Amino acid sequence: MGPRRVGWVVLLAGLWGDGWAQPVAAAAQLALGQRVYEGNCAVCHGLLGDGRGMAAHMFRTQPRDFRQGVFKFRSTPSGSLPRDEDLLRVLQRGVRGTAMVPQTHLSEAEQRAVIAYLKTFSPRWREEKPAPPIPIPPPPPLTPARLAQGKALYAQAGCDQCHGPEGRGDGPQAETLEDDWGWPIRPANLQRRPFKGGSRPADLYRTLATGLDGTPMPALAEALSPEELWALVYYLDSLASPAARANEQRWVGEEARGAMVERMHRRMGGGMPMRMRRP
Ligand code: HEC
Ligand code: HEC
Repeated sequence: MGPRRVGWVVLLAGLWGDGWAQPVAAAAQLALGQRVYEGNCAVCHGLLGDGRGMAAHMFRTQPRDFRQGVFKFRSTPSGSLPRDEDLLRVLQRGVRGTAMVPQTHLSEAEQRAVIAYLKTFSPRWREEKPAPPIPIPPPPPLTPARLAQGKALYAQAGCDQCHGPEGRGDGPQAETLEDDWGWPIRPANLQRRPFKGGSRPADLYRTLATGLDGTPMPALAEALSPEELWALVYYLDSLASPAARANEQRWVGEEARGAMVERMHRRMGGGMPMRMRRP
């Protein structure tokens, strides 16, 4: 349904009464979401949400394929769908180091609409609800003993197998890993910043507790206590050099190229993906 038709239906539904108002508002939001998606996201994520937009080949970290309904950045337990707040956080902060740059040129209404639209790409969104978020308890005091506990846990939990003994991303398994979509994936260098899911201690806690679904990065909420998780967070925090911290303010990795694609795409009036042939 085109935007103009939706407008009429909204008007008529208003006259007919509340019974219609809700589904009609949802249809109008989906129509807006589709427009926003095709004008801002499809160039990377593909018109069909399959991650195969025309710019996708330019990037080492591939745009998400939305058809499986698997998401890395969640406040919810491993295996759950993300909550709208999680998807909003991705749109507002971007995924640092990748072509997924912040979408802050969109209003919050547009961001919420495009989230509603991307849920149409996977049947999971009709069949399941996101689980409640994993709580993040207040951090305990940072003491030398807790830092040492974090360091010991790092080896005990097998983090070094992928991330290496010093966290440089060079563990024995590092070269062989693949994500669930079949792309090769490297463990993060834990001495560098920014992290994809955020670099503040509370962000790290969330990432460790929930894991990054679709990647070999495991979820630890079941295996470790909140105390242990905080100890590990403090240890990871101690690995970042001041030079690495300065990266929070600049473009890193594939961000500049992602921003360029967006700029070019918008200059062409969001027309680029529309001219692609549907497979
Ligand atoms: C220039 C390319 C590009 C554009 C444009 C783009 N994205 Fe992305 N997006 C990516 C890449 C690359 C990733 C994968 C990041 C990763 O896996 O580390 C991604 C990941 C995501 C994720 C997955 C987060 C998760 O938890 O797994 C969502 C949601 C998302 N994008 C939504 C959008 C929406 C909505 C738009 C448009 C408003 C958009 N993206 C525009 C490149 C892009
Ligand atoms: C089987 C391999 C594997 C193991 C074991 C593993 N990781 Fe990871 N980890 C990864 C991969 C792969 C990524 C990169 C994911 C991505 O870029 O999407 C990652 C990413 C990360 C990140 C960065 C997250 C972000 O937001 O960018 C942190 C922090 C991290 N791991 C910490 C740990 C800790 C602490 C442990 C031990 C408890 C651990 N990892 C165990 C594979 C592993």
